[in-house]
Amino acid sequence: MNNINIPVITIDGPSATGKGTLAASLAAHLDFHLLDSGSLYRILGVAVARAGLSLDEPEVIAQFARNLDIQFGLHGGGSVALDGEDVSIVIRTDLGSDMASKVGAIPAAREALLDRQLAFRQSPGLVADGRDMGTVVFPDACAKFFLTASAEARAQRRYKQLLDKGIDAIFPALLRELDERDKRDRSRSVSPMQPAGDAIVIDTTELDRSEVMEQVLRWVTVALSRES
Ligand code: DC
Repeated sequence: MNNINIPVITIDGPSATGKGTLAASLAAHLDFHLLDSGSLYRILGVAVARAGLSLDEPEVIAQFARNLDIQFGLHGGGSVALDGEDVSIVIRTDLGSDMASKVGAIPAAREALLDRQLAFRQSPGLVADGRDMGTVVFPDACAKFFLTASAEARAQRRYKQLLDKGIDAIFPALLRELDERDKRDRSRSVSPMQPAGDAIVIDTTELDRSEVMEQVLRWVTVALSRES
């Protein structure tokens, strides 16, 4: 299918910078499809842990990734299912975060997840959120954003999210884990997390959601008008 004329907007950056919320709001605002690529890495990570596979066997993991039965929206909008089971909550646990970052460091696993991500490029357009959306998966995106924020601000946001959900959390441990995952995501040999050369970098440390959305919408409106 030739879908290269379908506009894509990419939002990359480390965790807890507000990428997910921004991507969802932007997709809803534009009536575009939404790809939360992190959820694919999280599902693969949880499935690998459940199957007891070794991270030292990249080809086994890649084959496993290609065969995973993943469905979005099966148990309601925003849900993700693995073999028909709703895994929307389990993939957001510490295990899901840790395993996602570990399988994400395996080049063959990234390659195995590529086609599933490309398939999200459907009319009228796509908002894709992740680490390598603007650099590797959709290098021809019409607008690329890279969100950053200080490690403290990101850990603070994650801490608050967990407490709001009634989950106990220890702030220094959260900060340390966030930092470890970022280092792994930034330093891996393939598709490291980094802004695309043509990405607009937005530091969200001092901004609230609506201020980020406002900035992004200004750029997106210009980019989409050039496309049409
Ligand atoms: O966006 P997230 O926090 O749900 O991502 C979880 C992990 O998945 C992240 O630590 C690295 C990996 N990931 C990736 O390697 N590439 C992506 N495009 C998205 C996520």
